[in-house]
Amino acid sequence: MSDRLDKKIKERYTKYVLPSIKEARYRKNSETKYYDYQISEEARTIGQGKKYLLKTYGCQGNLADSEKLAGILESMGYTVTDNDELADIIIFNTCAIRENAEMRVFGELGRIKGLKKKNPHLILGICGCMTQEEVTTETLRKKFPHVDLIFGTHNIAMLAEYIVDIAKTNYEKGVVEVFSVEGDIYEGLPQVRDHKYRAWVNIMYGCDEFCTYCIVPYTRGKERSRKPADIIKEVEKLASEGYVEVTLLGQNVNAYGKDLEGYNYTFANLLKDLQKTSIKRIRFTTSHPRDLDDATIEVMASGGNIMPSLHLPVQSGSNQILKKMNRKYTKEEYLDKIQKLKTLIPGISITTDIIVAFPGETEEDFLETIDLVNKVEFEGAYTFIYSPREGTPAAKYENPLTPQMKKQRLLTLNKTINSYFLKGNKRFESQVLEVLVEGPSKNNDQMLCGYSPHNKLVNFEGPIELVGQIVKVKIIKAYTWHLLGELC
Ligand code: 5AD
Ligand code: SF4
Repeated sequence: MSDRLDKKIKERYTKYVLPSIKEARYRKNSETKYYDYQISEEARTIGQGKKYLLKTYGCQGNLADSEKLAGILESMGYTVTDNDELADIIIFNTCAIRENAEMRVFGELGRIKGLKKKNPHLILGICGCMTQEEVTTETLRKKFPHVDLIFGTHNIAMLAEYIVDIAKTNYEKGVVEVFSVEGDIYEGLPQVRDHKYRAWVNIMYGCDEFCTYCIVPYTRGKERSRKPADIIKEVEKLASEGYVEVTLLGQNVNAYGKDLEGYNYTFANLLKDLQKTSIKRIRFTTSHPRDLDDATIEVMASGGNIMPSLHLPVQSGSNQILKKMNRKYTKEEYLDKIQKLKTLIPGISITTDIIVAFPGETEEDFLETIDLVNKVEFEGAYTFIYSPREGTPAAKYENPLTPQMKKQRLLTLNKTINSYFLKGNKRFESQVLEVLVEGPSKNNDQMLCGYSPHNKLVNFEGPIELVGQIVKVKIIKAYTWHLLGELC
């Protein structure tokens, strides 16, 4: 580092630690440490009379992290606002999975630049997957010097301490601290949950798969599982607080437990134990087709509180592309698992993720994907055009497809796949479904909405008091994106 840069950094930041993607990639399989979260006395009152605004981008993992960031801020005395003019701290919890997710954050950061002039004590913070990328953090620091706080996915538990550090400099200096090596597991972080009846429950962090297109193993580190007893305790507590549904979270939940030394305890074991708790509904995401084992399918088949729906990202239907993606299964193996799931769990609703225009994808490869879609008849899907991510192997692969061709493939795929969403919904017409009522419907606040066991969105008329309850609804009509029903 040059002396000039060194001086500038010393003037602007009290701490300055950047991630190194190289270290992240070749990290050692060090043992995970488990801690109980504690907040310092000093931090407890810093936010009194102040407001926070949290903007979250990306997946459920980020939503769950933001609930913890909000928990920390509220335990410091901050209260929430959705008006950035009133906020004393604004934090962007970012996503790096595709380029457009990053562009949105850069745009927002530019937009709110002026706020610092109005409120010199305003802390602008950024965390999440974007900050775990060395290049992005450098760009942030150079192009957005008004950002005061940069931290990563491994140190969200340290938010309170960073704010204390900044406050000690009378809000003049900032903190940059992003760790390359994955973090430890903190239990007991305060949480402000987004929903009253549905909750996210992290069961593990990180990913060891290294699919060649994906940035996640670099931004989230290696797989670390929470201890079974901590998860079961959290689910029981949620049930006793009136929560009806939990969604177990991990990048590859089927790898749960592999890193727990001396446990010999798998995802199927965890599901079995959670089946015995008093929570009424259990979902989980995301599953990896290679690691989804028979034991897990058997527990799912035994039903109870485990819901009959599964998100099983396939990414492509071409064996050549699957290999280049490092997915470690073939189209045939994927179809075999689907067959098994459909046989053992009749009526199961299967959803997926698909990437089109991966480098080297030919027209034949693409048609293999369409063929797979026609065979599986997915009932929901997230579909994407491949987006190169710096630092991943696939970013170096040649991709001769024009933007026009990429868009056309996405359109064709969406047209094919969407037709099965309607088919998947139609099978429920005139059936009575148990719906967990969420609240007023998004497009018509005279109606209520909720989700069926198969995770189908159901709209129906009913009193607002039903929110949080599981009620019986008769389905009148199926549409592509929702079901219309009548309260029984
Ligand atoms: N480009 C496009 N889509 C991607 N995904 C992950 N990385 C990329 C990328 N580089 C998609 C995958 C994954 C989902 C969460 O995002 O389909 O399952
Ligand atoms: Fe990314 Fe693959 Fe891990 Fe999913 S399994 S997070 S796509 S590397």
